[in-house]
Amino acid sequence: MTVSRIRKRDESLLFLKQLIKNPKSLGAVVPSSPVLADFICSHVPIFDNHLVVEIGAGTGRFTQALLRAGVKPENLAILEIDPDMCTFLRHNFPQVNVIEGNASQLHTLLPESWLGKVGTIISGIPMVNLSKEDQSDIITSCFSVLNDTGNFLQFTYGPVSPLPTKKLGLKKKRLGHILLNFPPATVWRYWKQTTVHDVKWEKKSEKLDKIKEFVKFKPRLLLREEND
Ligand SMILES: C[S@@+](CC[C@H](N)C(=O)[O-])C[C@H]1O[C@@H](n2cnc3c(N)ncnc32)[C@H](O)[C@@H]1O
Repeated sequence: MTVSRIRKRDESLLFLKQLIKNPKSLGAVVPSSPVLADFICSHVPIFDNHLVVEIGAGTGRFTQALLRAGVKPENLAILEIDPDMCTFLRHNFPQVNVIEGNASQLHTLLPESWLGKVGTIISGIPMVNLSKEDQSDIITSCFSVLNDTGNFLQFTYGPVSPLPTKKLGLKKKRLGHILLNFPPATVWRYWKQTTVHDVKWEKKSEKLDKIKEFVKFKPRLLLREEND
């Protein structure tokens, strides 16, 4: 299929307008470069039933790269909070499901048949500009629609992970650093702590329970010792 070519002048004007209107939500001065878009999309498995969701789609740089990489339009849903961006996206990607809304409500906005079945979520949302509560709401919603082995891909301009993984119960991996982007960006992969990890955690809890039991009985032992 032919991938729609975004009209550069319209895109630049729209980006500039959004930058003036809501710089914090936009979080960038220009759209992501094709190099960053291709890099992040190269980490999306391409097979028939792999459902992909893009959040914070902006002017569709990642949408274009996902389609170019071979993701079928019917397996792709893109979410954007800004109505003007959504109009632009619908015009440029008529074959893709463009959803207007906040990523913290993703679980209520996706088709019901997609819930728990999404394989990859790509995020263009500037997480570092959000409060911890907003980050947590978005991550909770996203992981409620991902399947058990689902991945959440996020880029950031800073040197460290833009998400507090321990607090959110996630694991992370730095996938790469892209110099050919303005500003240069780092791509992170996040996923839920695995079953193996949960088993380890259960073992730790068992040990903790034994210690608690010991502590509970200790005063009685001491008392007995005293009585002796
Ligand atoms: C840095 S732009 C990224 C656009 C595009 N993905 C790219 O890389 O060029 C961030 C986009 O996220 C959108 N956004 C910010 N917060 C959002 C939220 N809570 N839910 C959905 N979209 C959001 C903004 O409107 C903006 O279009």
